[in-house]
Amino acid sequence: MSPPFLRLGVNIDHVATIRNARGGRHPDPLRAAHLAVEAGADGITAHLREDRRHISDRDIARLKSELTRPLNLEMAATEEMLAIALRHVPNACCLVPERREERTTEGGLDVVRGGEPLRKIVHSLRDAGIRVSLFIEADPRSIEASAAVGADIVELHTGQYCERALEDDAKGTAKEVERLRHAAALAVDAGLEVHAGHGLTYNTVAAVARMPQIVELNIGHFLIGEAIFGGLHSAIRHMRTLMDQARAESKRSSVAAP
Ligand code: PXP
Repeated sequence: MSPPFLRLGVNIDHVATIRNARGGRHPDPLRAAHLAVEAGADGITAHLREDRRHISDRDIARLKSELTRPLNLEMAATEEMLAIALRHVPNACCLVPERREERTTEGGLDVVRGGEPLRKIVHSLRDAGIRVSLFIEADPRSIEASAAVGADIVELHTGQYCERALEDDAKGTAKEVERLRHAAALAVDAGLEVHAGHGLTYNTVAAVARMPQIVELNIGHFLIGEAIFGGLHSAIRHMRTLMDQARAESKRSSVAAP
Protein backbone atom coordinates (compact mmCIF):
# COMPACT_ATOMS: atom_id res chain seq x y z
CA MET A 1 0.00 0.00 0.00
CA SER A 2 1.45 3.38 -0.91
CA PRO A 3 1.93 5.90 1.94
CA PRO A 4 -0.68 8.66 2.28
CA PHE A 5 0.01 12.32 1.55
CA LEU A 6 2.14 13.95 4.22
CA ARG A 7 0.63 17.20 5.50
CA LEU A 8 2.70 20.12 6.72
CA GLY A 9 1.43 22.11 9.68
CA VAL A 10 3.32 25.36 10.10
CA ASN A 11 3.69 26.57 13.66
CA ILE A 12 3.61 30.37 13.78
CA ASP A 13 4.35 30.87 17.51
CA HIS A 14 7.68 32.52 16.91
CA VAL A 15 6.25 35.19 14.64
CA ALA A 16 4.38 36.21 17.79
CA THR A 17 7.60 35.92 19.82
CA ILE A 18 9.21 38.55 17.59
CA ARG A 19 6.12 40.76 17.72
CA ASN A 20 5.98 40.55 21.50
CA ALA A 21 9.64 41.50 21.85
CA ARG A 22 8.49 45.06 21.09
CA GLY A 23 4.77 44.89 21.82
CA GLY A 24 2.49 46.27 19.12
CA ARG A 25 1.18 44.39 16.10
CA HIS A 26 4.17 43.64 13.86
CA PRO A 27 4.94 41.03 12.62
CA ASP A 28 1.40 39.72 12.52
CA PRO A 29 1.03 35.93 13.02
CA LEU A 30 -2.18 35.91 10.95
CA ARG A 31 -0.35 37.47 8.00
CA ALA A 32 2.36 34.81 8.41
CA ALA A 33 -0.33 32.12 8.51
CA HIS A 34 -1.86 33.34 5.22
CA LEU A 35 1.59 33.39 3.65
CA ALA A 36 2.32 29.89 4.96
CA VAL A 37 -0.89 28.61 3.36
CA GLU A 38 0.05 30.28 0.06
CA ALA A 39 3.44 28.55 0.26
CA GLY A 40 1.92 25.12 0.76
CA ALA A 41 1.09 24.66 4.44
CA ASP A 42 -1.83 22.30 4.90
CA GLY A 43 -2.65 23.68 8.33
CA ILE A 44 -1.55 26.19 10.92
CA THR A 45 -0.49 25.37 14.46
CA ALA A 46 -0.43 27.85 17.32
CA HIS A 47 0.37 27.22 20.97
CA LEU A 48 -1.56 29.34 23.45
CA ARG A 49 0.66 29.08 26.50
CA GLU A 50 -0.55 29.71 30.02
CA ASP A 51 1.83 32.70 30.31
CA ARG A 52 0.89 34.02 26.79
CA ARG A 53 4.56 34.46 25.99
CA HIS A 54 3.92 34.36 22.25
CA ILE A 55 0.45 33.61 20.87
CA SER A 56 -2.35 35.66 22.45
CA ASP A 57 -6.06 35.02 22.89
CA ARG A 58 -6.72 37.60 20.19
CA ASP A 59 -4.41 35.71 17.79
CA ILE A 60 -6.42 32.54 18.30
CA ALA A 61 -9.71 34.35 17.65
CA ARG A 62 -8.37 35.92 14.45
CA LEU A 63 -6.79 32.69 13.22
CA LYS A 64 -9.97 30.76 13.81
CA SER A 65 -12.19 33.25 12.02
CA GLU A 66 -9.91 34.05 9.07
CA LEU A 67 -7.83 31.00 8.23
CA THR A 68 -8.63 29.03 5.10
CA ARG A 69 -6.89 25.89 6.41
CA PRO A 70 -7.38 23.85 9.59
CA LEU A 71 -6.21 25.38 12.86
CA ASN A 72 -4.43 23.11 15.31
CA LEU A 73 -4.50 24.69 18.76
CA GLU A 74 -1.70 23.49 21.01
CA MET A 75 -2.50 23.83 24.67
CA ALA A 76 -1.99 22.43 28.13
CA ALA A 77 -4.65 20.08 29.46
CA THR A 78 -6.20 22.59 31.86
CA GLU A 79 -9.73 23.82 32.51
CA GLU A 80 -8.76 27.35 31.37
CA MET A 81 -7.52 26.08 27.99
CA LEU A 82 -10.45 23.72 27.60
CA ALA A 83 -12.85 26.66 27.95
CA ILE A 84 -10.93 28.63 25.30
CA ALA A 85 -10.89 25.67 22.92
CA LEU A 86 -14.62 25.13 23.36
CA ARG A 87 -15.22 28.82 22.63
CA HIS A 88 -13.28 28.81 19.35
CA VAL A 89 -13.68 25.19 18.22
CA PRO A 90 -10.45 24.74 16.25
CA ASN A 91 -10.19 21.75 13.93
CA ALA A 92 -7.81 20.03 16.31
CA CYS A 93 -6.29 20.47 19.73
CA CYS A 94 -2.89 19.09 20.52
CA LEU A 95 -2.49 18.61 24.27
CA VAL A 96 1.04 19.28 25.45
CA PRO A 97 2.77 19.33 28.81
CA GLU A 98 3.65 22.83 29.95
CA ARG A 99 5.99 24.19 32.56
CA ARG A 100 6.45 27.93 32.94
CA GLU A 101 10.21 27.74 33.23
CA GLU A 102 10.77 25.73 30.05
CA ARG A 103 11.87 27.45 26.87
CA THR A 104 9.85 25.13 24.67
CA THR A 105 7.80 21.94 25.13
CA GLU A 106 10.53 19.77 26.54
CA GLY A 107 9.02 16.33 26.83
CA GLY A 108 5.91 14.42 25.92
CA LEU A 109 2.66 14.47 27.84
CA ASP A 110 2.47 12.02 30.75
CA VAL A 111 -0.62 10.26 29.45
CA VAL A 112 -0.07 7.23 31.65
CA ARG A 113 -0.52 9.33 34.79
CA GLY A 114 -2.99 11.77 33.20
CA GLY A 115 -5.87 9.70 34.53
CA GLU A 116 -9.47 10.83 34.74
CA PRO A 117 -8.80 14.60 34.39
CA LEU A 118 -7.07 14.05 31.04
CA ARG A 119 -9.73 11.61 29.86
CA LYS A 120 -12.44 14.19 30.67
CA ILE A 121 -10.68 16.93 28.70
CA VAL A 122 -10.16 14.63 25.71
CA HIS A 123 -13.83 13.69 25.74
CA SER A 124 -15.09 17.27 26.17
CA LEU A 125 -13.05 18.33 23.13
CA ARG A 126 -14.19 15.37 21.07
CA ASP A 127 -17.83 15.95 22.03
CA ALA A 128 -17.45 19.47 20.59
CA GLY A 129 -16.24 18.00 17.28
CA ILE A 130 -12.57 18.86 17.86
CA ARG A 131 -9.98 16.25 16.89
CA VAL A 132 -7.70 15.50 19.81
CA SER A 133 -4.00 14.92 19.50
CA LEU A 134 -1.64 14.06 22.36
CA PHE A 135 2.00 15.11 22.11
CA ILE A 136 3.89 12.12 23.44
CA GLU A 137 7.28 10.52 23.65
CA ALA A 138 7.68 7.66 21.21
CA ASP A 139 7.16 4.92 23.75
CA PRO A 140 4.70 2.01 23.78
CA ARG A 141 3.12 2.82 27.16
CA SER A 142 2.25 6.37 26.11
CA ILE A 143 0.72 5.08 22.88
CA GLU A 144 -1.37 2.50 24.67
CA ALA A 145 -2.50 5.11 27.21
CA SER A 146 -3.36 7.60 24.42
CA ALA A 147 -5.64 5.07 22.77
CA ALA A 148 -7.19 4.19 26.13
CA VAL A 149 -7.92 7.82 26.98
CA GLY A 150 -9.80 8.26 23.68
CA ALA A 151 -7.41 10.41 21.61
CA ASP A 152 -7.76 10.51 17.82
CA ILE A 153 -4.12 11.28 17.15
CA VAL A 154 -0.68 11.04 18.71
CA GLU A 155 2.02 13.51 17.78
CA LEU A 156 5.40 11.87 18.31
CA HIS A 157 8.02 14.12 19.89
CA THR A 158 10.99 14.30 17.51
CA GLY A 159 13.11 16.46 19.84
CA GLN A 160 15.49 13.71 20.98
CA TYR A 161 16.06 12.57 17.41
CA CYS A 162 16.82 16.13 16.27
CA GLU A 163 19.19 16.72 19.18
CA ARG A 164 21.18 13.56 18.44
CA ALA A 165 21.36 14.63 14.78
CA LEU A 166 22.53 18.12 15.74
CA GLU A 167 25.30 16.59 17.85
CA ASP A 168 26.39 14.46 14.85
CA ASP A 169 25.78 11.38 16.98
CA ALA A 170 25.15 8.85 14.18
CA LYS A 171 24.46 5.92 16.48
CA GLY A 172 22.14 7.92 18.74
CA THR A 173 20.35 9.37 15.70
CA ALA A 174 19.77 5.92 14.20
CA LYS A 175 18.45 4.67 17.53
CA GLU A 176 16.00 7.58 17.78
CA VAL A 177 14.81 7.04 14.19
CA GLU A 178 14.17 3.41 15.02
CA ARG A 179 12.29 4.37 18.19
CA LEU A 180 10.07 6.74 16.18
CA ARG A 181 9.51 4.17 13.46
CA HIS A 182 8.49 1.52 15.96
CA ALA A 183 6.18 3.93 17.80
CA ALA A 184 4.52 5.07 14.56
CA ALA A 185 3.72 1.45 13.66
CA LEU A 186 2.38 0.71 17.14
CA ALA A 187 0.21 3.82 17.09
CA VAL A 188 -1.41 2.85 13.79
CA ASP A 189 -2.05 -0.63 15.16
CA ALA A 190 -3.73 1.02 18.16
CA GLY A 191 -6.07 2.86 15.76
CA LEU A 192 -4.43 6.27 16.16
CA GLU A 193 -3.53 8.80 13.47
CA VAL A 194 0.17 9.66 13.70
CA HIS A 195 1.77 13.11 13.53
CA ALA A 196 5.29 14.15 14.48
CA GLY A 197 7.16 17.30 15.27
CA HIS A 198 9.59 19.36 17.33
CA GLY A 199 13.01 20.57 16.28
CA LEU A 200 12.70 19.42 12.65
CA THR A 201 14.98 21.09 10.12
CA TYR A 202 15.94 20.65 6.46
CA ASN A 203 18.52 18.10 7.63
CA THR A 204 16.27 16.02 9.84
CA VAL A 205 12.90 16.07 8.09
CA ALA A 206 13.51 13.31 5.53
CA ALA A 207 13.99 10.40 7.94
CA VAL A 208 10.64 11.20 9.55
CA ALA A 209 8.86 11.98 6.27
CA ARG A 210 9.85 8.52 5.00
CA MET A 211 7.81 6.81 7.74
CA PRO A 212 4.61 5.86 5.92
CA GLN A 213 2.43 5.83 9.06
CA ILE A 214 3.03 9.53 9.72
CA VAL A 215 0.49 11.78 8.01
CA GLU A 216 1.39 15.21 9.40
CA LEU A 217 4.50 17.08 10.50
CA ASN A 218 4.31 20.24 12.61
CA ILE A 219 7.28 22.53 12.12
CA GLY A 220 7.85 26.02 13.48
CA HIS A 221 11.04 27.40 14.96
CA PHE A 222 13.37 26.37 12.14
CA LEU A 223 11.07 27.75 9.43
CA ILE A 224 10.65 31.11 11.14
CA GLY A 225 14.42 31.25 11.66
CA GLU A 226 15.10 30.44 8.00
CA ALA A 227 12.61 33.11 6.99
CA ILE A 228 15.13 35.69 8.22
CA PHE A 229 17.52 34.63 5.49
CA GLY A 230 15.33 33.82 2.52
CA GLY A 231 11.74 34.65 3.39
CA LEU A 232 8.98 32.50 4.86
CA HIS A 233 7.55 31.49 1.49
CA SER A 234 10.83 30.07 0.27
CA ALA A 235 11.58 28.31 3.59
CA ILE A 236 8.20 26.57 3.52
CA ARG A 237 8.49 25.69 -0.17
CA HIS A 238 11.87 24.10 0.43
CA MET A 239 10.64 22.12 3.46
CA ARG A 240 7.62 20.98 1.44
CA THR A 241 9.91 19.80 -1.38
CA LEU A 242 12.10 17.83 1.03
CA MET A 243 9.04 16.20 2.59
CA ASP A 244 7.60 15.30 -0.83
CA GLN A 245 10.92 13.87 -2.03
CA ALA A 246 11.27 11.70 1.09
CA ARG A 247 7.69 10.53 0.75
CA ALA A 248 8.22 9.65 -2.91
CA GLU A 249 11.30 7.60 -1.93
CA SER A 250 9.30 5.67 0.65
CA LYS A 251 6.57 5.11 -1.96
CA ARG A 252 9.15 3.69 -4.40
CA SER A 253 10.55 1.36 -1.74
CA SER A 254 7.07 0.16 -0.76
CA VAL A 255 6.29 -0.62 -4.42
CA ALA A 256 9.64 -2.43 -4.78
CA ALA A 257 9.02 -4.54 -1.67
CA PRO A 258 7.87 -8.12 -2.45
N1 PXP B 1 4.65 20.06 17.84
C1 PXP B 1 4.46 20.40 19.14
C2 PXP B 1 3.46 19.65 19.93
C3 PXP B 1 5.17 21.48 19.71
O1 PXP B 1 4.97 21.82 21.01
C4 PXP B 1 6.06 22.22 18.89
C5 PXP B 1 6.77 23.39 19.47
O2 PXP B 1 5.88 24.38 19.80
C6 PXP B 1 6.20 21.83 17.56
C7 PXP B 1 5.50 20.73 17.06
C8 PXP B 1 7.09 22.57 16.62
O3 PXP B 1 8.40 22.48 17.07
P1 PXP B 1 9.49 23.42 16.43
O4 PXP B 1 9.07 24.82 16.68
O5 PXP B 1 10.73 23.02 17.13
O6 PXP B 1 9.51 23.10 14.95
